[in-house]
Amino acid sequence: MKILVLGAGAREHAIVKALLRTGTSKDDLIVAPGNAGIALDAHCEPKLNPNAPLDVAKFALEHRIELTIIGPEAPLVAGVSDALRSEGIAVFGPSQAAAALEGSKSFAKEVMAAAGVPTGMARECSTIEEVEDAMDEFGTPYVIKADGLAAGKGVIVTNDRDAAIEHAKKFIDLGILVEEFLAGQEVSLFFVADGKTVVPLSPAQDFKRAYDNDEGPNTGGMGAYSPLPWLPEGFVEEVQELVAQPTIDEMANLGTPFIGLLYCGLIVTERGIRVIEFNARFGDPETQVVLRRMTSPLASLLYKAATGQLNGATTTDFSHDVAITVVLASEGYPDTSAPNRPITGLAEAESDDHIEICHAATAASGDEILATGGRVLSVVAIDHTFAHARHHAYEAIEKIILEGSHYRKDIAAKVAG
Ligand code: AMP
Ligand code: GLY
Repeated sequence: MKILVLGAGAREHAIVKALLRTGTSKDDLIVAPGNAGIALDAHCEPKLNPNAPLDVAKFALEHRIELTIIGPEAPLVAGVSDALRSEGIAVFGPSQAAAALEGSKSFAKEVMAAAGVPTGMARECSTIEEVEDAMDEFGTPYVIKADGLAAGKGVIVTNDRDAAIEHAKKFIDLGILVEEFLAGQEVSLFFVADGKTVVPLSPAQDFKRAYDNDEGPNTGGMGAYSPLPWLPEGFVEEVQELVAQPTIDEMANLGTPFIGLLYCGLIVTERGIRVIEFNARFGDPETQVVLRRMTSPLASLLYKAATGQLNGATTTDFSHDVAITVVLASEGYPDTSAPNRPITGLAEAESDDHIEICHAATAASGDEILATGGRVLSVVAIDHTFAHARHHAYEAIEKIILEGSHYRKDIAAKVAG
């Protein structure tokens, strides 16, 4: 089956590695645009713009693509899935309309209300006065969310009233959602959806803050691990019944069936499971650990979803081994950006069989690999225990030299015993 993967980050690199590991042939794979690391594993088309619906559809037709897998949200929002579907090409990624589940937090709240899905109480606000009233109603810590795509920077959780209002002012044009604060462990749980039914993957936890001990600003994610040994038995089934299936049913009722990856961002509170966000795509960096553990064929699962053929009999298999990923970030991330700088030590780091390196923002320049963005690499380790996986991951990342770079030292530390 000829497959086109759209995207240029570590998530897409992880998807490519998982496809190859679970039976897809390298000859059947094209990535657009890809990056310097993905190009080591698969053919890349750096000139194809993944956000241009007509260009992507034309390319897919010309290359007889049978399945397109969309990594990031930007092509979804741009309507790339719709353009491909109208040409009869199977695509794993929701339509522009269905992707609003991620793009509009107020739409997501409406869907959840209609489907009876448990989520935090929230107020939609269009003026700063309304924001302040809602803040008074819910109290501290304040949770202020921009009601639109804000490149991972739309949410602030703070006790500082002035900072909360400042944040609301910055995004007031998008609309603001003020939400009750939910205390508990966060879980990212992915479901593959075919518009009618869902198949769960294995749970993961993301580390959103920039620095150790969950200090510093929110980021796109500084690390992750999977599975989550502390979850109660039956957790995945409960989320499927309470959250994922009702959401997919409601999206179908609305005439916008959701075909793709339903990312459920959850908090396990004392009062039960609550959804804090939906995304319409694989999470980054959680994908790096979830797919690293997958042992059943990824291509056939995503093709079944794309063609409406998931049913109760579809299952996915995961290794009993555990996986962790540690993200190497550029100097200043997430507040400021650093110039492109050379990276060395990659081959030494990857010489360990337990290690895979997914590239997030790299480019080749002659013989050198340059870091070209905030999150640069995802170092992924797999082993029998979290203690061993951590050992491999940190030994590998220490071999990688990038001036000014930083990473968290506490990924999966709490579950490593
Ligand atoms: P979101 O983009 O909605 O996932 O929010 C980013 C991060 O803010 C989440 O991963 C949580 O750590 C935090 N967060 C969001 N909503 C809440 C909430 N209602 N209560 C507590 N923390 C939250
Ligand atoms: N890791 C969080 C996200 O992908 O949105």
